[in-house]
Amino acid sequence: MLIDGHGREVNYLRVSLTERCNFRCQYCMPEKPFSWVPKENLLSFEDLFKFIKAAIDEGITKIRLTGGEPTLRADLDKFIKMIYDYKNDIDLAMTTNGYLLKSIAKDLKEAGLKRLNISLDSLKPEVAAKIAGKDVLRNVLDGIEEALKVGLKVKINMVPLKGVNEDEIVDILDFCKDRGMQVRFIEYMENVHAHSSLKGMQGKEILNKIKEKYEIEKIGRKGSSPAFLYKIKNEDYIFGLIDPHKHDFCETCNRIRLTAEGYLIPCLYFDEAMSIKDAVQAGDIDRAVEILKEVLRNKPKENRWSEEESEASNRAFYETGG
Ligand code: GTP
Ligand code: 5AD
Ligand code: SF4
Repeated sequence: MLIDGHGREVNYLRVSLTERCNFRCQYCMPEKPFSWVPKENLLSFEDLFKFIKAAIDEGITKIRLTGGEPTLRADLDKFIKMIYDYKNDIDLAMTTNGYLLKSIAKDLKEAGLKRLNISLDSLKPEVAAKIAGKDVLRNVLDGIEEALKVGLKVKINMVPLKGVNEDEIVDILDFCKDRGMQVRFIEYMENVHAHSSLKGMQGKEILNKIKEKYEIEKIGRKGSSPAFLYKIKNEDYIFGLIDPHKHDFCETCNRIRLTAEGYLIPCLYFDEAMSIKDAVQAGDIDRAVEILKEVLRNKPKENRWSEEESEASNRAFYETGG
């Protein structure tokens, strides 16, 4: 079992497969980064898998592949199958923008992927294009449809932004409700890489929009999930709100992040990281596990996004995968 310096059990590993992305979301990377990390700096799937096996042996039970955009990495299905074949009861999921999903969803499912979280910020082509930096909506909707068709469990992530997509909160909720997908509304997390003019919506404001149409009931948080769940009254439908400005989900934080270059990141907000790359490439997995334990010992208690005054993080979401 992996325990951090604050006594929290860490059983959730988020693995970013690349910082590259085919979108330029305003809240993440509106300008293409000055230079991408050269591909040769990425950990190979073989090296990543060596670390993942050791992490599973130490107590990781949930793995999420993220990016950038993970579907940009060739042979993704083969990598998923490597993990699945090692331990098929891992909660194996991926977070994607959905753009390339239509043609690969079936292969991913057959390789052993269980769940997908897909970003969907607007149902209007021009608004979706404004947020993502190009015309993306048709592909994303086709990707969602295909993922459902092949039997993947799908959740939708929406980041409501003032004056951009705030009028679509209920439309996106209804879209997800009609298709049996849970939607999570995520408060915009201020970071120095995002578009400087962006204004996010507070959880309370998001809920108020929903209350204009529906009566809602509080359910609460499930396990270590960052999402606080709500239910629509007299219906079966449950949706979530991810509200990092309150830090209350940090108390039960169970996750650690690995970047595509091999840095272990203990908290989404902070810059601190330690690399396992040299150890893994030298075949010294015991050393990589020692580094993992050291990073966990130093995991911060909570993030520093605050309700009163939003402190921007230097951390790039495209490196950490959110
Ligand atoms: P589930 O396993 O389906 O609960 O997924 P998840 O919520 O762990 O994964 P997803 O990648 O969909 O995360 C949704 C968003 O929640 C992320 O993109 C982040 O914006 C936010 N989030 C997830 N984990 C953290 C965290 O540790 N800290 C903060 N501040 N936000 C997080
Ligand atoms: N604030 C909140 N959520 C973000 N994401 C990316 N950047 C931000 C941000 N600044 C979320 C997206 C996507 C996931 C990968 O991360 O909604 O679903
Ligand atoms: Fe790409 Fe996801 Fe960042 Fe959007 S939020 S630019 S889809 S990595």
